[in-house]
Amino acid sequence: MNAPTSPVALVTGAGHGIGRATVRKFRALGTRVLAADIDLAAEDLTADPGVLAAHLDVTDPASVEACIAGCVDRLGRLDHLVCTAGGDTGSPPNFLDETDDDWQRLVDLNLYGVVRCIRAAVPRMTSGGAIAVVGSVNGLAAWGGAPYSAAKAGLVNLTQQLAAEFGPRGIRVNLVAPGTVRTRVWDDQPGSPDQMSVLYPLGRIGEPEDIANALAFLCSPDASWITGVTLPVDGGASTGPRHLFGKLPHRTP
Ligand SMILES: NC(=O)c1ccc[n+]([C@@H]2O[C@H](COP(=O)([O-])OP(=O)(O)OC[C@H]3O[C@@H](n4cnc5c(N)ncnc54)[C@H](O)[C@@H]3O)[C@@H](O)[C@H]2O)c1
Repeated sequence: MNAPTSPVALVTGAGHGIGRATVRKFRALGTRVLAADIDLAAEDLTADPGVLAAHLDVTDPASVEACIAGCVDRLGRLDHLVCTAGGDTGSPPNFLDETDDDWQRLVDLNLYGVVRCIRAAVPRMTSGGAIAVVGSVNGLAAWGGAPYSAAKAGLVNLTQQLAAEFGPRGIRVNLVAPGTVRTRVWDDQPGSPDQMSVLYPLGRIGEPEDIANALAFLCSPDASWITGVTLPVDGGASTGPRHLFGKLPHRTP
């Protein structure tokens, strides 16, 4: 374990994928971590004495409160909140087939789950600090999945609102919007996620470490004058279709 005065990050969704890579990135930077998840197989993470594990369900207010209070009790402070818990499971592909239950479930997880964590964390970030949230390119354009995408779009404005509100407390709030990232979420899809590389000017899909690096940067002193932004980390996909010209029958619109 690093010295008790070293910074502490609480990472939600730390059990898999982007969250797990984020724990490793923060550890490489010497930050102590509370790794929190609803499904935490954390043995390999907690082999590192700088990582403690906690159960967390971001859809349960009591669980969020207990987890974040427990972070301060166990690690002595809270400097960074990194919200990666989320996902788009179980909803039909078409808007007309999506039910109120789909909307409630996906907005509860992807938008309100972040709201709950930030509301519980900020009063405990008594030395200032940084909040970094994982949104999605789905929140910036039509990539499919209306409830999930609308929830992720809500994070864009939430980030601006909270950056303005908490700036005077020395707390920065930023959002990372990933494109396709190689995690288990693509395992049940037909084919390889690499087939989506064509959508990306940089010619590949993302790796969890690409997102973890951006989250760590936004929490670092190097980003000390950056707040309220949404940073696409998407291999250039949000530039538009220019990179496809020459591969399509017509050159420009
Ligand atoms: N993989 C992609 O292509 C991609 C693209 C854009 C955005 N994202 C976003 O990145 C984030 C991480 O996704 P990932 O691809 O690493 O998926 P993942 O399934 O590997 O990780 C998501 C994590 O969130 C946890 N989680 C789910 N519900 C939870 C809850 N109620 N409370 C606490 N933890 C919960 C899961 O157990 C898991 O560990 C998500 O917010 C997702 O929407 C992913």
